[in-house]
Amino acid sequence: MHNTHPGVHIAAKCTAPALGLSLVVLLAAGTITPASPNVRADSPLAWPLERWVGWRDEQINHILTSTLAPTGSDTRKMLARKEVSRASMHAYTVIQECLKADSSYFSKDAGRARELGNFVRFVKAQQWMVIPPGAAGKVPYGLGLEVPDEQYWNLAKPYLEFPELLKSQRFLTAMASPGTYRQALEMIDSINANLPPERKWISLLFDAQFITTVDDAHTYGRMLVMVPNEPVGNSEVADRWIQFGIADPGTYPETRSVSMFTVVRNAETPAKTTTYFSDFMRIRDKQTGKFSIRSNFTMLHDPSLNCYNCHKSSVLPIHPAREYVLDSGGKLAENRANAGELPAKLNNLIMGYGPPNYVYQDTFAYGPCLGPTNRYRSDAFLKSATAGLDISPTSYDRIRNAMHCSNCHNNFGVINYPQAVPTDLDLKAFRTHRGMVQTLVEQGTMPPGNTLTARERQALWRCLMSEYLNMDTKQGILADWLRGDSVSASPAVRN
Ligand code: HEC
Ligand code: HEC
Repeated sequence: MHNTHPGVHIAAKCTAPALGLSLVVLLAAGTITPASPNVRADSPLAWPLERWVGWRDEQINHILTSTLAPTGSDTRKMLARKEVSRASMHAYTVIQECLKADSSYFSKDAGRARELGNFVRFVKAQQWMVIPPGAAGKVPYGLGLEVPDEQYWNLAKPYLEFPELLKSQRFLTAMASPGTYRQALEMIDSINANLPPERKWISLLFDAQFITTVDDAHTYGRMLVMVPNEPVGNSEVADRWIQFGIADPGTYPETRSVSMFTVVRNAETPAKTTTYFSDFMRIRDKQTGKFSIRSNFTMLHDPSLNCYNCHKSSVLPIHPAREYVLDSGGKLAENRANAGELPAKLNNLIMGYGPPNYVYQDTFAYGPCLGPTNRYRSDAFLKSATAGLDISPTSYDRIRNAMHCSNCHNNFGVINYPQAVPTDLDLKAFRTHRGMVQTLVEQGTMPPGNTLTARERQALWRCLMSEYLNMDTKQGILADWLRGDSVSASPAVRN
């Protein structure tokens, strides 16, 4: 990967003469007090607000310049997440120096809180993913949580127990090869026979359209088992979404990945949920042939990284490339009878989970939602964002009216960095090298029920993205927010 950012001298570089002068003026006017005598004159603790703002803007510029060099014919401009994290860490070292001296440094002063609050949260959240120097192997904070991954696993473990059947030898053995998937499904049927309707497990076989498993099989084949409304503790219930990697038809690699998202809610406050997650491997002991399930987060070479990068809503909807059923011979065959029914039933649950609460993750720190409701989009903006697509001005209102994503998404899954920005995640993780937003918008899935033409849907995606972060000017909703603008307070009409 190519690193195009200019260097690491930013904290030291400041427009000294200009700032010096304004400092004198501010001091004379009595608007700020000089730093206490035990603070070094050049310490950031002594910076006046104006210097902080200048520094912040340089850092933002630096972070948003962390682009990937274009490869081959792919000339799209995109942010390289590693570079964003590195540039964030660079800024965070300065911030940390102040926080160490005074943990309320950025919150106790109204000006600093306003100008730097969002920026501090963003860089803090992104710097976790930097691999510390000398850390051979494991990234301690690869998940981007406030606690190291391994510690997270220990905290989350009680919520991520597999149901007895799903961790049993007979089930895991049946899941190990395509010829016995039928037996695995029959075991689930026999569990369901004794459960009341609201607790029956839902299983779905499909070919995923977005990403592969993280094991060596790198398969798109999936078997999702959703275990709903399971009582936990005294007054809580959990929905467990357990997703097994399975072999795609025709290929027989040993598939080991399995993942779980557990959404816990109190029976009395159903829209207030807490979510726990982990990726696991089903590991077969070479000698005994027996299976065990182990969390990736405890592994030295953990292939799983930041889940919130994609999981903006706690559980992501299932929009399969293809659904499968088992044919009379027990082989995976495309479901041509009632495809779409089970995914719709499952996806309908997602909005009801409310905003994700991952406990140890500051989801707010990843920025505001793509497609806010209260923004004016001028014809000139639409024209420039859709240049080359040959969009008639008669389409502008149709596109504008479809741009209100935050109307729903603020309630259950704010679409923010990196999903709302072109990044190397699109390139590296996704089957079509397009992110989830682009795919669901261009396929016509989002916003729900729209009647846009294929061309208008392409235009909609372009408008949303260039409004959020214009990769040429580095301006937009994300940049404004990093500079402390609250999106809800952004002017409804801009000239
Ligand atoms: C690059 C994007 C991406 C990342 C990163 C990601 N996921 Fe997912 N995940 C998806 C998509 C997309 C789906 C929806 C099903 C599908 O298409 O495969 C999904 C589905 C799931 C499901 C099934 C329940 C649901 O949400 O639909 C589980 C469980 C899951 N992921 C766990 C994880 C865990 C744990 C992590 C972090 C270690 C993680 N995922 C990271 C994209 C991602
Ligand atoms: C009427 C409410 C509504 C509006 C408006 C809406 N969405 Fe969604 N969106 C949903 C729901 C509900 C889901 C999850 C269930 C599903 O996919 O069927 C979802 C899922 C998604 C997902 C996958 C899950 C995630 O959180 O990343 C993306 C991406 C997405 N929407 C993008 C958009 C974009 C972009 C817009 C604006 C152009 C938009 N949506 C407008 C309701 C909405």
